[in-house]
Amino acid sequence: MLLEVKEINTFYGISHILFNVSLEIDKGEVVCILGRNGVGKTTLLRSIMGLTTARSGNILFGGLEIRGKQPFEVARLGIGFVPEDRVIFPALTVRENLEMGTKRGDKGPWTFERVFEMFPILQKRRAQMGGTLSGGEQQMLTIARTLMGNPQLLLLDEPSEGLSPLIIKELGNYVRSLKEEGMPLLMSEQNPAFSLRLSDRAYILEKGEVRWKGDIRELKEKPEILKTYLGV
Ligand SMILES: Nc1ncnc2c1ncn2[C@@H]1O[C@H](COP(=O)(O)OP(=O)(O)OP(=O)(O)O)[C@@H](O)[C@H]1O
Ligand SMILES: [Mg+2]
Repeated sequence: MLLEVKEINTFYGISHILFNVSLEIDKGEVVCILGRNGVGKTTLLRSIMGLTTARSGNILFGGLEIRGKQPFEVARLGIGFVPEDRVIFPALTVRENLEMGTKRGDKGPWTFERVFEMFPILQKRRAQMGGTLSGGEQQMLTIARTLMGNPQLLLLDEPSEGLSPLIIKELGNYVRSLKEEGMPLLMSEQNPAFSLRLSDRAYILEKGEVRWKGDIRELKEKPEILKTYLGV
């Protein structure tokens, strides 16, 4: 198993947010975390990254305990995180933004050439300031920059949020190419349409607990599940 989250509990101060949450993702899998607003999707991804330390439970990455590690250590071990708010450096060029994602001494497969091949729009805009890109392009840039760090697992927090249908479709194609290359992906989504097309399995969170988990096929065959938990 690539990542095993076992019964974690996460708090913000005295607010208990995640309750005994367990989740697994294997090599080559695309898994989504679904749930309404405020159920704890971001908190779960932040707990994996070490941005908010889970108070109990275990988080094993490649068999190694990472709960309690600092975010930079988790990143160095091979987990890339694309946060909800798409942090780019507006006053740096696209190429410089990508450079910020590289790790010293890293000899992994993701190079400028490969990233530009995957995201031709970024190659076209490589000398432009990050701040001049559209929302969709900034989302591509954030993903591309994270790839430059050669992660073995990519976490995407609500990747389609706030993007137009056309850009969401384009983003879907990129996610599919990553999947075809065998990149394991764990993404959160409030709107399931995007993730249902791309994922193998799903976890549905409600009030900080996993209420349902299973194959995407099952979710598609039984629309009442999404209706119950997401109201869609
Ligand atoms: N820094 C914080 N301090 C205190 N409470 C927080 C903090 N961040 C989030 N929360 C609370 O934790 C709960 C879970 O939030 P979280 O952001 O993980 O949900 P989410 O499922 O990602 O929601 P969304 O769909 O809006 O992104 C919410 O009740 C939220 O108000
Ligand atoms: Mg969130």
